[in-house]
Amino acid sequence: MPPKPLLIAGNWKMYGRAADLAELDALAAAIGGVRPEVEVAVCPPFTLTMAAVARAAGGRIAIGVQDVAAVGADGAHTGEVSAAMAADAGARYAIVGHSERRATQGETDALVAAKAEAALAAGLAPIVCVGETLEERKAGQAAAVVARQVAASCPAPNVILAYEPVWAIGTGLTPTAAEIAEIHAEAWRAFAAKFGATAVRILYGGSVKPANAAELLAIDGVDGALVGGASLKAKDFAAIVSAG
Ligand code: PGA
Repeated sequence: MPPKPLLIAGNWKMYGRAADLAELDALAAAIGGVRPEVEVAVCPPFTLTMAAVARAAGGRIAIGVQDVAAVGADGAHTGEVSAAMAADAGARYAIVGHSERRATQGETDALVAAKAEAALAAGLAPIVCVGETLEERKAGQAAAVVARQVAASCPAPNVILAYEPVWAIGTGLTPTAAEIAEIHAEAWRAFAAKFGATAVRILYGGSVKPANAAELLAIDGVDGALVGGASLKAKDFAAIVSAG
């Protein structure tokens, strides 16, 4: 099998004003020489989706969204944005089940699976996030938690997975290379047990920075990165993309 193309995706979270779209220009300029097998995506907040798509048009940066509604059809759902709307705005990827949403919005595996399904139905590539808390890791449950989340949050084989240990997000902490390799292998096993062996891509996320990107991307079973804080500044994100 040819190697899977790496995906380096930036998650701007609840940051970003119109003026920050200039970062996309700087990013495009800085990554022009990166090998074409590295896919690059940026997921700004919904308010910037259409402007970001216009800004990135014709280049190699794809735009994604950070969430979609679980319901596919238009309807009376105040405040929600459907996957079809995101696709209509030009988005190509949709992050679903980020641990911040699981923790603060009470998102369950079943809801995450419904969102991933809605994204697929609209032609978006869902990036399904999974990952253990610090308590779960300390209790020796990291692999089991991730396996359970993978099985319950993925509705179909054509999703992208992101392993993001909750305790590594925004903390500057990362698991060891061996720990990441172990969990990626476990996530792959859980995925293959459900869907059969596939070429699913499994991204790593959690404190990916220019200084550790090359090391993290070289780990067995790591097919890319989901980057939060370090995706906000073009210089840092370009350095991570260039490590791919
Ligand atoms: P971080 O966030 O890179 O700031 O740790 C990662 C994420 O939440 O996707």
